[in-house]
Amino acid sequence: MNTATLRATQSYQPPPHAARSTPTTPAGALATDFAPLLQVQDLSLEYRTPQRVARATHRVSFDVHEADRFVLLGPSGCGKSTLLKAVAGFIPPVEGQVRLDGRAVQGPGPDRIVVFQEFDQLPPWKTVKENVMFPLLASRTLGRRQAQERALHWLDRVGLARVADVHPHQLSGGMKQRVAIARALAMQPRVLLMDEPFAALDALTRRKMQEELLGLWEEARFTLLFVTHSIEEALVVGSRIALLSPHPGRMRAEINSHAFGLADQGSAEFQAAAQRIHHLLFEHEASQEVLQ
Ligand SMILES: Nc1ncnc2c1ncn2[C@@H]1O[C@H](COP(=O)(O)OP(=O)(O)OP(=O)(O)O)[C@@H](O)[C@H]1O
Ligand SMILES: [Mg+2]
Repeated sequence: MNTATLRATQSYQPPPHAARSTPTTPAGALATDFAPLLQVQDLSLEYRTPQRVARATHRVSFDVHEADRFVLLGPSGCGKSTLLKAVAGFIPPVEGQVRLDGRAVQGPGPDRIVVFQEFDQLPPWKTVKENVMFPLLASRTLGRRQAQERALHWLDRVGLARVADVHPHQLSGGMKQRVAIARALAMQPRVLLMDEPFAALDALTRRKMQEELLGLWEEARFTLLFVTHSIEEALVVGSRIALLSPHPGRMRAEINSHAFGLADQGSAEFQAAAQRIHHLLFEHEASQEVLQ
């Protein structure tokens, strides 16, 4: 079955606040309401070594709109992290392009900040507060005093103001991830990129972090591009989900998931949606096995 027949996207409904400051066209229609913030167009990505070329993704396309919580979901090795790195500007495309606000992404920038899975993404010699201040200072976004204010504000938002002056090794894994999130949001990026940020946490902490992330989103309405290989996490965190095929990653389907939150996890509708995604992700292999 091809991607087109699986494409299950409903028409995009812009979030209410997205239209607030949008200019209107002479005809009265909102001019940029439907212009995606981030466009990934026919993106093929490869790793090249002298011995071989490994294609990580093949002609992947999707649009992310302002305040979307857009999830990339797919099995291990399908190129999710590679896609995120390309959006971050760390990996140039072999074909296709990434556009942010209509402009082609040429490299990394402070408008795209990544939160990784690893707990060691915080320089250990800096205090928590210094960690959050660092990108603000390094990118010359703010002066020292304002950077400190901004850092303390975001540390407070993630419930860590009390540990502002300690070093990362004194924190739990969940607390380190909260610092990484505070550091990212303090930069007020156009898109927050998260690569399995909760995958290394225990189940209870993971759930708490999902809840906190959704709480932060409710307050700040940032645009999120979130990678996971957990169907449940995709449904809870995402408002839209792109399903990727196994290596090399291709778009298999795109679905709306804004109806689901943490409270729905036990519901029949949630289970049905999870089943449907599972089917969309794995039916291709199943049908191939039958054919062999
Ligand atoms: N530095 C690299 N050099 C060569 N090949 C790589 C490199 N990094 C990743 N790959 C390959 O590219 C493909 C996509 O890898 P990627 O890490 O993006 O997958 P993923 O979907 O994030 O997987 P996971 O869920 O395990 O994190 C895989 O086949 C992987 O082996
Ligand atoms: Mg990965």
